[in-house]
Amino acid sequence: MEHPPARSDYKKVWSELSTTEEQAKLHVIGVTEEAALQATGEETLRFLQDSVGIGKDDVVLEIGCGIGRVGKVVAPLCRKWIGCDVASNMLSLTAERLKDLSNVELVELSGYNLSGVTDNSVDVVYCTVVFMHLESWDRHNYIVEAFRVLRPNGRIYVDNINLCSEGGWKVFETHRAFSPAIRPPHMTQNSTPQEIETYLKRAGFDEVRIRTDDDWIRASAIKPGAVG
Ligand SMILES: C[S@@+](CC[C@H](N)C(=O)[O-])C[C@H]1O[C@@H](n2cnc3c(N)ncnc32)[C@H](O)[C@@H]1O
Repeated sequence: MEHPPARSDYKKVWSELSTTEEQAKLHVIGVTEEAALQATGEETLRFLQDSVGIGKDDVVLEIGCGIGRVGKVVAPLCRKWIGCDVASNMLSLTAERLKDLSNVELVELSGYNLSGVTDNSVDVVYCTVVFMHLESWDRHNYIVEAFRVLRPNGRIYVDNINLCSEGGWKVFETHRAFSPAIRPPHMTQNSTPQEIETYLKRAGFDEVRIRTDDDWIRASAIKPGAVG
């Protein structure tokens, strides 16, 4: 029997999960109808507006943009939206869904960094519904990289399901039932608020704010401004 790829072989894992448009949508958010995608995108936009805010002059970068579910509602509000993903299939679907927007740039990632994105060039970095699929080291890799590409006073938003919540614990218990041999490589792994807070602070971010009002951790922070 052929073994599934390792979790950290992100390109292979996510290329295989996005061979058709329907599969890609299901793995992104579990729905395929455009109205439902739009509604969930707007819900994420509200979290972004409440935390980092999206301004008309901002260059905004999404790590793990999938099919452009969130990009479709964020791009019309900012100067430039840069959608980054490890899977070229996902980026092709984003290109098609956002083809009417002229301020969209797409970047294929290695899976571990934002190589190709210039230092101090971005105002907002966000990463939603992605950390649960990454190894913890790669969550931190992306936070460190976000710090590099953000301008001074740039803002970051990241999220994950909260292991310490009731719902998060249920997810953990459900997935614990899978024996290691058959565990899908993209299976959700939750974070704790302390984990995310630690990564943000260790990377150098200030004003770290963590919301845990439901089963999610929603974290935002600011890159310190230039001194002097
Ligand atoms: C569940 S989907 C979420 C997509 C999008 N953020 C959204 O909320 O609609 C996870 C996305 O992360 C991408 N991804 C997985 N591992 C990645 C990695 N190491 N680097 C960049 N993107 C990754 C996948 O290809 C997929 O598009």
